[in-house]
Amino acid sequence: MSATMQAVLCNRYGPPEELVVGEAPMPVPGERQVLVRVHATAVNDYDWSLVRGKPAIYRLMFGLTRPKRPVPGMELAGVVEAVGPNSSKFRVGDRVYGDISEHGFGTFAEYCAVHEDGLVPLPDGLSFVFAAATPHALELAYQALIQIAKLKDRERVLLNGAGGGVGTFCLQLAKRQGCEVWGVDTGPKLEAMKTLGFDRVIDYRETDFTRLDERFDVVVDMKTTRSPRAHARALAPDGRYVTVGGELQRLLQLLLGRLFGRKDQHILPLKPNRDLEALAPLLQHGTLKPVIDGPHPLSETPRLIRYFGEGRHTGKVVVAVRPE
Ligand SMILES: NC(=O)c1ccc[n+]([C@@H]2O[C@H](COP(=O)([O-])OP(=O)(O)OC[C@H]3O[C@@H](n4cnc5c(N)ncnc54)[C@H](OP(=O)(O)O)[C@@H]3O)[C@@H](O)[C@H]2O)c1
Repeated sequence: MSATMQAVLCNRYGPPEELVVGEAPMPVPGERQVLVRVHATAVNDYDWSLVRGKPAIYRLMFGLTRPKRPVPGMELAGVVEAVGPNSSKFRVGDRVYGDISEHGFGTFAEYCAVHEDGLVPLPDGLSFVFAAATPHALELAYQALIQIAKLKDRERVLLNGAGGGVGTFCLQLAKRQGCEVWGVDTGPKLEAMKTLGFDRVIDYRETDFTRLDERFDVVVDMKTTRSPRAHARALAPDGRYVTVGGELQRLLQLLLGRLFGRKDQHILPLKPNRDLEALAPLLQHGTLKPVIDGPHPLSETPRLIRYFGEGRHTGKVVVAVRPE
């Protein structure tokens, strides 16, 4: 094993075009960590924020003046290459995947040292590209739609910001239960969404879904650009609204609303990887599968982070660090 590796380096906050794809020191697995040979990784909202240091509040987590960990990326699939002290969950050669965001970053690289709790075994039959596209978006979708909204068969569902990774997994989960699913997004994604199986698509640049003469049993919102009062207009009696993420000011309004008794509107606090092992059979049978944009080469990462940030993708943008 050489002492250096190829990685995407963010030495200071700025536009993604300033990222450098070059040599970096090989990470060494520390206490309860494993060293993973990364086969595939995916672009996420965290990367778009980490690289630019925006919104500024994120710098409390990423580093005040520059990133504490210069390699972005928080989702990976690969093979355990080495095991650190007091790590017993995996052995060298195990195929693993996971959302590592609770344990740091660093997946846009040939190798990544990760706390063993940030990983789960990669089920047989799933490719690295498939697996890298799955943990973050599937967990957000599953925890929002099934665990918090407690979706029932044949309900009416609206997904706001539906063309990305979370929306496309929500669609599949809802369709398994015979639901009618509406999706809100914009641009060429709307045609792609119809092909994926959305019953109706709405362009958010033209139509405010909270002003439609329609009511939904469940609304899952990836963008949260409206007030709790507006969400309430879109809900049927006994309807549930769940936000996955969005504008900080709107999330604070939701929190306040909950404190003052608005119990039909929820904020999802993600528990990374928690349900992946239980959901493995659905992934293996192809009942649930990520919508993949790519795979793209590691050298393209700076361009891909902008492409993701500007919302020009459909589904998950995947980078194959080692093409299969
Ligand atoms: N709850 C938690 O603990 C937690 C943890 C991590 C991440 N998150 C959140 O999870 C979400 C990730 O979702 P994702 O990966 O599916 O995102 P994504 O791939 O970026 O998809 C979001 C879609 O929403 C569209 N959009 C943008 N503005 C919109 C608007 N005003 N109305 C409707 N749609 C709009 C985007 O398209 P255009 O850009 O082309 O308009 C894009 O297609 C993010 O909000 C992230 O912050 C939550």
